[in-house]
Amino acid sequence: MIRSRISFLSTFLMKNFLNRSIIRSQSSSSSSSIDLNSLSQTLLRRAILYVPGNDQRKIDKAIKSFEKIDSIVLDCEDGVAVKSKDDARKTILNILNQYGSNELLWKKLSVRINSMDSGIAYEDLEIIFSGKIIPRTILLPKVDTKTNIDDFIEYFKKSKINERLKHPIDLITYVESAIGLLDLRDIAKHTIDMCKTLNNMHFAGIVFGSDDFCANIGATRSDEGKEVLMARQHVILVCKSLNLQAIDSVYINFRDLDGLKRQSEEGVSMGFTGKQCIHPDQIPIIQETYRPSDKKIEWAKGLIKEFEQAQQDGRGAFVYHGQMIDMPLLKQAYNVINIAKQIGKV
Ligand code: COA
Ligand code: MG
Repeated sequence: MIRSRISFLSTFLMKNFLNRSIIRSQSSSSSSSIDLNSLSQTLLRRAILYVPGNDQRKIDKAIKSFEKIDSIVLDCEDGVAVKSKDDARKTILNILNQYGSNELLWKKLSVRINSMDSGIAYEDLEIIFSGKIIPRTILLPKVDTKTNIDDFIEYFKKSKINERLKHPIDLITYVESAIGLLDLRDIAKHTIDMCKTLNNMHFAGIVFGSDDFCANIGATRSDEGKEVLMARQHVILVCKSLNLQAIDSVYINFRDLDGLKRQSEEGVSMGFTGKQCIHPDQIPIIQETYRPSDKKIEWAKGLIKEFEQAQQDGRGAFVYHGQMIDMPLLKQAYNVINIAKQIGKV
């Protein structure tokens, strides 16, 4: 029922609002419109779990319980020692070939390559993209400049990888330095434009790499995180202004689950859509905190129903739960239902 309402809603919104550019989103120009169809296909990333790409035991463990994990990041970057990079690339290639036919699992398999400035990202790309199965999501760390994006996109163009793609690749970038943060919106807008030059690349989100960021600005990490508050808020603003997922810091003290819960709740209240994690014990806490509450899901369902009714009655503005409903609230309701659908709550 709700599914048909959503599709009705998206059709309605497409027809009635897009032309008027009321909904604004992923675009380099502030006046163009959101593609609600792509919004409804957004992959769930409440928790993204890093697994060192060379650690077969941990990879097997993550894959065994993949149904309970939103996103598994097979890492080639900082979770892997320099001398084990090649081992990681080959192990990841094997994993993709072995499990790529399981679509549910494949959708959750992401690969974090090394940064474009490291000089070794091309080796990652060369090996990881040499198989039949291509990762669903690529994470690109330490994006400091537009040139980093140009180099990445250029590789895809030259290697003609996108001609072999049957599905789009999601790109997720990292902001981990002062210059990356200061130029973030420009870089993100450029990334959207550059992804459009390839047919099958979708810029999906930004990760805040807090530890590298602190090292870069010379800050000392504290429990309350005052030193990264402004940076976190800035990442959220940029992501929201461009309809991107916003993924919060790692809570590195992985045995302290109370602290993790506190930081996750704070992230949710600030507007983050997900959080990085490094240990399986962190997953249920993060995913539960980042899921919409039953109350919120009911609110969203009711709002969409009221919206439909108002449209049928020819009413423009309408009131729901004492609030005048405007487009941001309608979009929020749509987002809530999108997540709820993916976790089986509607
Ligand atoms: N993914 C999958 N399985 C993991 C895991 C991960 N990230 N972290 C731990 N596990 C597994 C362990 O292998 C162990 O399983 P086992 O008993 O069957 O061997 C189980 O979970 C319990 O692990 P535990 O003993 O509590 O932790 P550990 O000492 O083995 O590992 C870390 C601790 C931090 C080294 C490990 O969690 C890790 O490597 N995390 C990822 C770090 C990373 O990628 N950092 C870079 C991004 S910030
Ligand atoms: Mg980092």
